[in-house]
Amino acid sequence: MSKPNLHSINPIKFLKMDGIRKQKIESAEAKPLPPLSSYVPNQLAAALHPEKQYLKIVDVIEHSSDVKTFVFGANKEKGTEALAYFSAGQYLSISIKVGSAVITRPYSLSSSPKESLEGKYTLTIKRVKDGLATNYILDNWTVGTEVEASAPLGDFTYEPLRDAKKIIGLAGGSGITPFFSLAKAIADGDEDAELTLLYGSRTMNDVLFLKEFNAIAKKCPKFRLVNVLSDEDAKDCEHGFLTAELIKKYAPVDEPYSIFLCGPQAMYDFADKEIATLGLRRKFIRHELFGEYHNPQRNEDYPIKGTEKFSITVHIAGEAKVVEANANDTILCSLEKNGIAAPAHCRSGICGWCHSRLISGEVYVPKSVDGRRLADLKFKYIHPCCSFPVSDVEIEVPPMK
Ligand code: FES
Repeated sequence: MSKPNLHSINPIKFLKMDGIRKQKIESAEAKPLPPLSSYVPNQLAAALHPEKQYLKIVDVIEHSSDVKTFVFGANKEKGTEALAYFSAGQYLSISIKVGSAVITRPYSLSSSPKESLEGKYTLTIKRVKDGLATNYILDNWTVGTEVEASAPLGDFTYEPLRDAKKIIGLAGGSGITPFFSLAKAIADGDEDAELTLLYGSRTMNDVLFLKEFNAIAKKCPKFRLVNVLSDEDAKDCEHGFLTAELIKKYAPVDEPYSIFLCGPQAMYDFADKEIATLGLRRKFIRHELFGEYHNPQRNEDYPIKGTEKFSITVHIAGEAKVVEANANDTILCSLEKNGIAAPAHCRSGICGWCHSRLISGEVYVPKSVDGRRLADLKFKYIHPCCSFPVSDVEIEVPPMK
């Protein structure tokens, strides 16, 4: 775009504009403006960012007893006419009623952006030991189940202004889902990037979407899958872990590249140390935090034993309640376990949806998920989704919308 020539601006004409504007306002008809919802940009914004989406399960694909893909369509009877478009790598925050508690969980979309235009979302969910939400979903959701979800959220997406065009993806376990979406988006021509995916699994039996990934790689030269198996040797696979050596083997030599990581916490603990030795610029290392932080006791700066119990006094929607909390549960988790529905989306300190005021007491926030700003620290705001109590605490939480 060429720069405007400031010398060509006529200051006399500019000064006259104010009078012209006043004349136009005075001569305009005195009828009320149409409702804001009738403006096309507002309609577009509402379609892209609906406050809620009502979905219905139309199919369930069982990969194993512990992994299922749920296929959703728009629940028109409840008022969702069309699914919101998204960028590959985004997630939905799902509301789930388990017993008396309403909890929310973020799940990355495994479908492609193109499929959303065809009226389809998919979420692939893997059972987690003691996972309150995942286990409930896998045991209860079936064709016809109605589900309430947020608009697509999150920034684990390819952004050409920030990211290098060549991406090395590091995936582990159910962290494969955003990469499945990204690989399809690249093959569909919706993302102009190249993805080499190093997918860490124990054995070939644990690899999800193998057939589908191979089919994408066959038709799209911009995508490549490398299976990295820790517990077995297999043809055309790497054996071992996601090490710096392995990344260097597949990364471009003389071009910049971005690393995108998504997987369980143990994978980050290992891979982050390996990546640190590569000397990449910080902006070229992208994490999807993928839910909440566990076991804060493993951090050197954690100030207590982690086996203690504390009381949380919570002020929400004009009521005050007192609940008992385990030190190694986040405050959000403790509220949910006690049937208190608090707002949350990402559950990892990023979206700010759970932003709450700490009235008294002390919390521990692991450095890697501490998204508080200076103003939050000054005025004592915390994110209950990644704050652990280290004393009795009193907080004020915004009500669920
Ligand atoms: S739920 Fe996103 S910051 Fe807490």
